Amino acid sequence: MNSRINGFYKQSPSDRLDTIVERADLSAEAQAALANVGLSLGDADNVSENVVGTIEYPLSVATNFVIDGEDTLVPMAIEETSVVAAASYGALMARDTGGFETSVSGPIMISQIQALDVADPHAAKVKILNEKSDLIELANEQDPVLVEHGGGCEDIQVRVIDTPRGQMVVTQLIVDVRDAMGGNAVNTMAEALAPEIEQLTGGDVSLRILSNLADRRLARARCRLDPAVLASDDTDLSGEEVRDRIVDAWAFAAGDPYRAATHNKGIMNGIDAVATATFNDWRAIEAGAHAYAAQGGYGPLTNYEVGEEGYLACSIEIPMQVGTIGGATSLHPTAQASMELLAVDSADELAGVMAAVGLAQNYAGLRALVSEGIQAGHMSLHAKNIAIQADVPQELVDEVAAQMVAEDEVRQDRAEELARELK
Ligand code: MEV
Repeated sequence: MNSRINGFYKQSPSDRLDTIVERADLSAEAQAALANVGLSLGDADNVSENVVGTIEYPLSVATNFVIDGEDTLVPMAIEETSVVAAASYGALMARDTGGFETSVSGPIMISQIQALDVADPHAAKVKILNEKSDLIELANEQDPVLVEHGGGCEDIQVRVIDTPRGQMVVTQLIVDVRDAMGGNAVNTMAEALAPEIEQLTGGDVSLRILSNLADRRLARARCRLDPAVLASDDTDLSGEEVRDRIVDAWAFAAGDPYRAATHNKGIMNGIDAVATATFNDWRAIEAGAHAYAAQGGYGPLTNYEVGEEGYLACSIEIPMQVGTIGGATSLHPTAQASMELLAVDSADELAGVMAAVGLAQNYAGLRALVSEGIQAGHMSLHAKNIAIQADVPQELVDEVAAQMVAEDEVRQDRAEELARELK
């Protein structure tokens, strides 16, 4: 499979679908799900409560990705213009230098049990740790299927923490959740252990819930970029100048949380879009990403440095709590089609893909920001939207939009005027 598709963006949506179906050899079910709006009202009613309808996002496919030596077409669902184009462009920039190399620390989730009013917290900690193997056994009895698949509770840690309401004893279950996102598995284990923890601590157990700071489930991706692919014709900046400005942009984020928030938002544009397309819980990923970025002072989740032979060395490390089984994905036919397109074999592999997309998204955005600025790219898409809103006939939309951008007059009344002139 080749993820490089020349002129993909110029095709009509239905031609693009045909191209993707052929390239990725998608099943008839996946093709049907992509061609039609996927989630029936009945299915939607099973996903949430008080359902009255569904809301659609555009489902796009980012091209050009090579991840761990495999060409990959990436489904992305997002309402923001330029994101998919930037991801595809970012992937193209890395293509000639080998694409992305990824690794994942393992599908390990953490669950917490909060014990309050413990008279002797440090002694309670030791008591819990003395019972570690029995507690692990009890946790694993909750999910024999997970254990059968090589997962399960692996360790128990206990922390005594200081809070505005005094000391608390927090028992943490370290659980290998295999290909699940794992929320249900670890929450069930925490709830099952609560009575034992209450008895061992002599305190009151209240919360029993996973931590979204999934810092034992880290996805990493790296790539290197030849400065030649970074050069900006529009601004006459050389590849080396753009490269150095990208490193300066990263340093800005490393030195300033106001900038780091936006820098990381750019990363999450790509990651959330894949999470949405696959019906993964993007709130969990967001929470984990920002909590991880805040350790040691809020900073950027990516890194840039000038590496060997002057290449730009790009990397990302981010908690990635995603699943390929057991989540909501199976409830949504389009999300299943997205998974078929991705063709990943495990949650770890999906996490690696998402890290690579976040990295590509980030440096593609930075490249635009340090050179022509992002409004230029946004403006042509914005102009298209304005033309569509002005009821410009489909066949004239591109021409009207280009003319409005050239004139720097992107307005509905101008779109109407141009359409009348061109007709
Ligand atoms: C826009 O959604 C994302 C950017 O602002 C990210 C960034 O500033 O790095 C372009």
